[in-house]
Amino acid sequence: MAGFFDFLRYSYLKILVAISRFLIRRVTSSSSPTPDSLLNIPSRDQKRTIKVHVYKPHVEDAGSSKPAPVLINLYGSGFAIPLHGLDDNFCRLMAKTTGFVVLDVNYCLAPEYPFPAALNDIEDTVKYVLNHPDEYQASQLSVSGFSSGGTLALAASTILPRGTFKTLIAFYPATNLLQDPSLRKAPAPGGKDRSTFWTKIFRESYIRGIDPRDPRISPAFADTDHFPANMLFVTGELDASAVEAEELAERAKNGAHPGKNVIIRRMKGCGHAFDQKLTGEMNISARNEAYELAAEILKKGQEGR
Ligand SMILES: *[C@@H]1O[C@H](CO)[C@@H](O)[C@H](O)[C@H]1NC(C)=O
Repeated sequence: MAGFFDFLRYSYLKILVAISRFLIRRVTSSSSPTPDSLLNIPSRDQKRTIKVHVYKPHVEDAGSSKPAPVLINLYGSGFAIPLHGLDDNFCRLMAKTTGFVVLDVNYCLAPEYPFPAALNDIEDTVKYVLNHPDEYQASQLSVSGFSSGGTLALAASTILPRGTFKTLIAFYPATNLLQDPSLRKAPAPGGKDRSTFWTKIFRESYIRGIDPRDPRISPAFADTDHFPANMLFVTGELDASAVEAEELAERAKNGAHPGKNVIIRRMKGCGHAFDQKLTGEMNISARNEAYELAAEILKKGQEGR
């Protein structure tokens, strides 16, 4: 009987997610990403591969084949919406200005692939990078993520061996999935009141009854010593997820290893996903500033901190 109700619930979630995917596709069809190449990384799930957009740095000496530092990027999906390619501008800019190869990973989504499938994809991608030392510089592996992608970046760094990632960049990540999203408040008033109905549906699809206090789901419950030595948290003052992100960042900064370089930047007048056209509230100067901070911390991490 429990199995039957579980199936009903799954069907309900799947229908709702299908509707929201359809609605979002209608507003995002305009621009398509322009990576330099595509890569299909083997997944532990034999039935599929992990699609990756590759952005190559512009190396002056085209003949040189020195292994490059790598940035793994995780787009924001709410764990359920296929928006791979949305960070095209960010990935291109990082490759161009930092010398990192950027691997923009199309990790799998709920409800078809609930927790921990997306994390498995990230782990499989990291393994792939580490297994190709001729191409990639394993000691210079870093990770970035937007929104739920930031959540996944933080979660992944708690399950991988300490020191796997040199630098972590999280743009407006959710860190506490235990908290009811409708009870969160932005640090400053004036933001758009967004319905939290979809957030709840997406989260239930991803978590499916597992305790959200699991640090692989909610990094707010993680031991911050597991996090990389260099971290950048970018939040928006009109965004309801800012407070929980900043709390975790402060904890990482003042943790048992105070040697960590943690930068917390709260953008004035900015809401969730302020750097993306999708929201209709894109702030270009804030976006440029935030991306510049990201490039800076990547380069700094490379100097051997
Ligand atoms: C854009 O962002 C900047 C930096 O956070 C902020 O100072 C400015 O007020 C924002 N502009 C608008 C129109 O919200």
